[in-house]
Amino acid sequence: MTETRNAALDSTTPMEAPHTAGGNSVDRFYKPSDEIVEQANVTAYMRSKGFQTYEELYNWSIANLQEFWTDQARELSWFEPWQKVLDDSQAPFYKWFVGAKTNIVYNAIDRHVNTWRRNKLALIWEGEDGSQRTFSYHTLNREVSRIANVLKSMGVRKGDIVTIYLPRIPELPLTMLACAKIGAAHSVVYGGFSVEALADRIDDAGSKVLITADGGYMRGKIIELKKIADEAMARTPTLQTCIVVKHTGHEVTMENTRDLWLHDLLSLPIASPVCPTEPVDAEDTLFILYTSGTTGRPKGVVHTHGGYMVGTYTTLKFVFDLKEEDRWWCAADPGWITGHSYIVYSPLVAGATSFMYEGAPNYPYPDRWWSLIARHAITVLYTAPTAIRGLMRFGEAWPNRHDLSSLRLLGTVGEPINPEAWRWYHRVIGGERCPIMDTWWQTETGHFMITPTPITPLKPGSATRAFLGIDVDVVHEDGSPCAANEDGLLVVKQPWPGMMRTILNDPERYVTTYWDKEPAGMYTVGDSARKDDDGYIWIIGRLDDVIKVSGYRLGTAEVESALVSHPAVAEAAAIGLPHEVKGNAIHAFVILREGFAGSPHLEDELKAHVGHEMGPIARPEKIDFVASLPKTRSGKIMRRVLKAQALGQDVGDISTLEA
Ligand code: WT7
Repeated sequence: MTETRNAALDSTTPMEAPHTAGGNSVDRFYKPSDEIVEQANVTAYMRSKGFQTYEELYNWSIANLQEFWTDQARELSWFEPWQKVLDDSQAPFYKWFVGAKTNIVYNAIDRHVNTWRRNKLALIWEGEDGSQRTFSYHTLNREVSRIANVLKSMGVRKGDIVTIYLPRIPELPLTMLACAKIGAAHSVVYGGFSVEALADRIDDAGSKVLITADGGYMRGKIIELKKIADEAMARTPTLQTCIVVKHTGHEVTMENTRDLWLHDLLSLPIASPVCPTEPVDAEDTLFILYTSGTTGRPKGVVHTHGGYMVGTYTTLKFVFDLKEEDRWWCAADPGWITGHSYIVYSPLVAGATSFMYEGAPNYPYPDRWWSLIARHAITVLYTAPTAIRGLMRFGEAWPNRHDLSSLRLLGTVGEPINPEAWRWYHRVIGGERCPIMDTWWQTETGHFMITPTPITPLKPGSATRAFLGIDVDVVHEDGSPCAANEDGLLVVKQPWPGMMRTILNDPERYVTTYWDKEPAGMYTVGDSARKDDDGYIWIIGRLDDVIKVSGYRLGTAEVESALVSHPAVAEAAAIGLPHEVKGNAIHAFVILREGFAGSPHLEDELKAHVGHEMGPIARPEKIDFVASLPKTRSGKIMRRVLKAQALGQDVGDISTLEA
């Protein structure tokens, strides 16, 4: 891949950070080699449709949305075909592949075990301690079926939501697939979350069954998941059964009748390795995944079998260009949407070999990831800017000591990548030959929305342009398109198959959050963005009270509610401030109750309290004890003012500030 100048543009601006580049008229493209273009899956599809350029293919896909997605859906297996590709009669409650019967697990496993792929590795897992487990499609089928039969025997059925709270071990994908196989939905709670976050999610989903583990390893230490789950279960009345995976082997409390070891259950005759995959409606719920928004209550984003399967499969195939020989590593946690879509579901649907690693990137040394790439001959690596920045700090000597020549493509997700990190990733990890797929999407969108494919000329820091069949734009509040280089709202103007269907238990919030805001009738994503002269999209950041910490999405309201649950705290406000590695770090401002005085000790105690309630990622970097908080006359905390003050900037219009 070589850096070339684009003669069509006469701007002289060098590559700059997306946030600071005046007009973003970046004139240097990183162009893929002819060889990459020639062998790309998207090139083959483009030619099969009779197009010469990606531009023509894209324009056709938008004008013929249903035909494009139908082409993709036809590559998958359906028990019964759809009567209608898209039903928009109850918009924004769109339905895709209406009337079809399928099951994503049938496509992820069953259809492969009837072919030569039964002997192909589906999953290669490495534990932090170096132990390894591998699953062929055949073995995966047996293990998933055994767990599915256990769940069935407990009465888990279609309509139930099983909560899964596990470390990054194979049982996480196995139990997700087992739920889906029998038509039940799963709600995975990220293993880095803690008591309150877990309890809230179990409660909202009304789960009767929780699947957890004794613990997980992180930097050689045990994270005591069962202990956290015990505290959470004490706060959740619906829960009846807790299935526990033995992973670390350390001692945990098992409550009689409620808690059962998975290995005990799997030794029972009911745990047969044969379990038919339940045909479900394309629109039946596959999973719930909670994400943060403006209020303290997390949103249970609902995804379904049919459209999600088509969307994730298509994007993986064209963006990461997966081939039979690839070894794909998405280094996210399966507990986030990235892991759901691109560790668990789409790689299996595509019949790929996926790699998964349990632990920290720098354990025991800062070259752990690079040694994994070399030892497992990873061909495509997909990670987040925060991980790249974190590993970059240790210097090039660590990656340079490993053979990374197996890599052919790289990817990033979660937040805008700063061009410095992009270039390091491109040069040091990708050896200047691997295009970087900067994929913009969300928990709500299910799959990539704005992203290059391997044939796209790249600009560091831009997710480039919309994916095929995805109609995005940057607009003003009235819906009119912004001019080039003008900041505006990022919107999606037409439905797409993997889109969220609703918010669990709160369809009204789905409508008001995403569809009723100005500009009405378009899906507002909550990000601001701008398009440059080439139509490349640059994400500026969130417009709501969501902070991206290490790429993880946290609501200020959730952090604040964790703070005020401490007896010393009367009121709290949380903001995100720039952080070199994490992108943003949480800073909190706290008003104490009568009788409490601020001290470094209390600061530590409050940080630990938030960590205990929500999880280590939500732990504030700094807490300031203050006498008052800037508020509007209606009593809303003006976080914008706090942020400007903390950054030493002009506080802007504060006319609504309380006197
Ligand atoms: C928000 C969604 C979906 C995967 C993980 C995040 C930000 C995501 C990018 C990117 C700039 C990005 C946006 C978005 N974001 N990817 N490539 N460039 N920003 O999912 O937790 O639902 O967060 O992450 O702000 O709205 P999520």
